[in-house]
Amino acid sequence: MKVLFVDQTGQLGGGELSLLDTVRGTSHTAEVVLFSDGPFRRLLEEIPVPVHLLAAGSAGEVRREAGISSLLSAVPSFVELRNKLAKIAEGFDVIYANSQKAFLVSALAKRRGQPLIWHLRDMLQADHFSGIMRSVAVFTGNHSANLVISNSQATLDSFIASGGKREKSIVIYNGISPAPFDTFSEQMVGELRSELGWQGKFVVGAFGRLSPWKGQHVLIEAVAALPDVHLAIVGDALFGEKEYVESLHALVQRHKLSERVHFLGFRRDVPQLMRSVDVIAHTATAPEPFGRVIVEGMLASRPVIATRAGGAVEIIRDGETGILVTPGHTTELQEAIKRLKTDSGFLNQLAQQGRQSALADFSVEKMICNVDTTITRFSR
Ligand code: UDP
Ligand code: GLC
Repeated sequence: MKVLFVDQTGQLGGGELSLLDTVRGTSHTAEVVLFSDGPFRRLLEEIPVPVHLLAAGSAGEVRREAGISSLLSAVPSFVELRNKLAKIAEGFDVIYANSQKAFLVSALAKRRGQPLIWHLRDMLQADHFSGIMRSVAVFTGNHSANLVISNSQATLDSFIASGGKREKSIVIYNGISPAPFDTFSEQMVGELRSELGWQGKFVVGAFGRLSPWKGQHVLIEAVAALPDVHLAIVGDALFGEKEYVESLHALVQRHKLSERVHFLGFRRDVPQLMRSVDVIAHTATAPEPFGRVIVEGMLASRPVIATRAGGAVEIIRDGETGILVTPGHTTELQEAIKRLKTDSGFLNQLAQQGRQSALADFSVEKMICNVDTTITRFSR
């Protein structure tokens, strides 16, 4: 079948990295539409897959927290985008929208009877979206999507709780390939650690884009009171969270932690870096819809501490395949880090069991097969 995948961004967020694996592995004929340029386009073209770049104009500026006035002022630009997408989408059997904005424009652009799948990767909740954005998304989902794929049960539940139709919803978990984690030997780990000045140090790694709800500030606060612990923060602001990045640097200054907190910026060698830290912590303060970084940490055979909410609860069995702590709770986080630092038996046990669980439950082949069969349901 001919499938048109539509995504609003050219940045490399988790949704885009999951789509990249899907497009690379799909047995369908794929083309991709993006509403903005970036490294995602280049990786798609390397596969190779045709990419259509459509300038979003002021529709690109509408953020998920937007109110009704900014939504209305972007209407002409949405219409223009819709017209361009409609032309491209005409010859395709299915449109597959990978983000909210992509879905809204696709719903307007699709021809009558053309199947539209919405891959919902965000929690439709007040801590992530304005009320109007949620209402518009759910209304359009109920009326225009043939199927809504959620990246976790938590995401699906948020869709239903906002008024979404249960009979249209299914869950497909993200899958991650273990290969990039396995091609890095212990010797290479040692070399990278010494290059980074981490030899003989206990390093906690935080991986992910910098954004207030991702909670990197909670981890800095926790580490401030653990004098022998180093913290590596890997990632950058992808969607304009410049002020948050500045506040993180200010927090490090205030606690005089610049010797122990290392900002590494956005990196393409996450698997290697994950293997080079002792523990991985993902301290989101709002429910993480899925959290690829959690599965990646498990595949790297490192114990993962995550907050007890959203998709993390579906990935980690507390005390068996990782550790779950209360969101925003610095003391619990400190206790978990201290325990892993002093109890290497427990650390190794979590790492091994976490790896097995990630391999069994979150395989990339399973994800691609699930997406492919779901698309095939719409063949005529
Ligand atoms: N990531 C990356 N480089 C970085 C930080 C993160 O490639 O410097 C990747 C990370 O490996 C993961 C993705 O970005 O695959 C983040 O996905 P996740 O689902 O954890 O969060 P999202 O950003 O989608 O909310
Ligand atoms: C979104 C979510 C993240 C999820 C990713 C892939 O970006 O924030 O939790 O892992 O999509 O589905």
